[in-house]
Amino acid sequence: MAQLWGGRFTKQTDEAVKAFNDSIGFDKRLYREDIEGSIAHAGMLGAQGIITPQEADLVISGLGKILADVESGELTIGSEYEDIHSFVEANLIERIGDAGKKLHTGRSRNDQVALDMKLYTRRKTREIREHLCTLLETILGLMEENTDTYMPGFTHLQKAQPTSLAHHLGAYFEMFKRDAGRLDDCLERMNYCPLGSGALAGTTYPLDRYMTAEKLGFAGPTLNSMDSVSDRDYLIELLSDLSLIMMHLSRFSEELITWNSNEYRFVEMDDAFSTGSSIMPQKKNPDICELVRGKTGRVYGDLMSLLTTMKGLPLAYNKDMQEDKEPAFDAIDTAEACISLFSGMLSTITFRKDVMRLSAVRGFTNATDAADYLVVKGVPFRDAHGIIGRLVLHCIDENKSIEDLSLSELKQFSPAFEEDIYEAVSLRTCVEKRLTLGAPGSDMMKTVIGKEKEWLEGWHRSIKVS
Ligand code: ARG
Repeated sequence: MAQLWGGRFTKQTDEAVKAFNDSIGFDKRLYREDIEGSIAHAGMLGAQGIITPQEADLVISGLGKILADVESGELTIGSEYEDIHSFVEANLIERIGDAGKKLHTGRSRNDQVALDMKLYTRRKTREIREHLCTLLETILGLMEENTDTYMPGFTHLQKAQPTSLAHHLGAYFEMFKRDAGRLDDCLERMNYCPLGSGALAGTTYPLDRYMTAEKLGFAGPTLNSMDSVSDRDYLIELLSDLSLIMMHLSRFSEELITWNSNEYRFVEMDDAFSTGSSIMPQKKNPDICELVRGKTGRVYGDLMSLLTTMKGLPLAYNKDMQEDKEPAFDAIDTAEACISLFSGMLSTITFRKDVMRLSAVRGFTNATDAADYLVVKGVPFRDAHGIIGRLVLHCIDENKSIEDLSLSELKQFSPAFEEDIYEAVSLRTCVEKRLTLGAPGSDMMKTVIGKEKEWLEGWHRSIKVS
């Protein structure tokens, strides 16, 4: 028996219709959640006297065996079944006979699939949090090692002001920290159990929805049965969160691709995380970063797909909602792989500190500091800005840096220059004097790293217990 609903039909389903309608090809990955949900439901049916305790025990042990057999590979999930729910129920009936036919009492596939997807999404979201935690740890470790690795900071992809690698990486730490918070929020909102909502209007059986919610580790049952079977908000919310994570990974990837280019040479990717070219022997390509950047579009697409599927649906369940699975699974799989591979890639990357430093020295990143120097000497900022602008123009013509000019050359631009200008515009001074909260000066960076560490340890503890 591959279908659960043959009774009112007099004809076999058309082959093409069956293929079009079936979801087993992609929802078979929900087998664990489907069985877990059914075990909770059967236990509750028994406790409420809706089925006998013996029947409940038979159902529960039968389900446990199906799970074990699927996991061991003894039992394969055949494509002849309409969906994972039909597969499990048919298999149960085959094993235990009539008692198996009572499992679906007071339940519909509408609340069943809503539950399975929630359980699956909750599990995967928790796994994704673990991966994100590893990524945050990797970034923080690199920050700790690189508070005095100086580099240019950019605006418009033009060298702007000097900063440190720790500071640059710290920007990503903040982004992924916000992403972590979003996943927490999403998990909290999704953690209500739809089981017991029936097809849409609950049931006349005395189900104890609090009991099943508790058995399945939810904060409680949902409060409206129509909403429960129609809600896919949590998937859309998760896919939005994953899209933001991907957007952050993609920006990071884009920077690493640029830094890995022959022109920048700021980084060297580890051989294990790069590939070569079939024709150009000199090539070592940053494929992980490029794929992460590319796959970002795919996750956005999954989000758009789900939003569009849901936008015109009347209450309650509609078959359109079966279309939630492939984009949700795809986004989850993609984001999970991207986050974990990205961490591996990042932890094995070599930063060429000397190249970064030289790039900061060469690019007039100290021009703002030179102007600030004149301000301290009493020159109004707007005039100082003009003086340094002319000075930079001169240096470009001469192919020199500001600090390469002699004091007498500098004095031609402003009499306010004195011997202490060289110290004032040295790269070290330019970075280390930036000590406002959130700025790159290493004393400030160390304070911030301490705060980030404290937060990360707390977050790590909290995700371990959830
Ligand atoms: N395969 C279906 C889905 O993914 C399960 C729910 C089917 N419900 C129904 N009334 N046909 O949505």
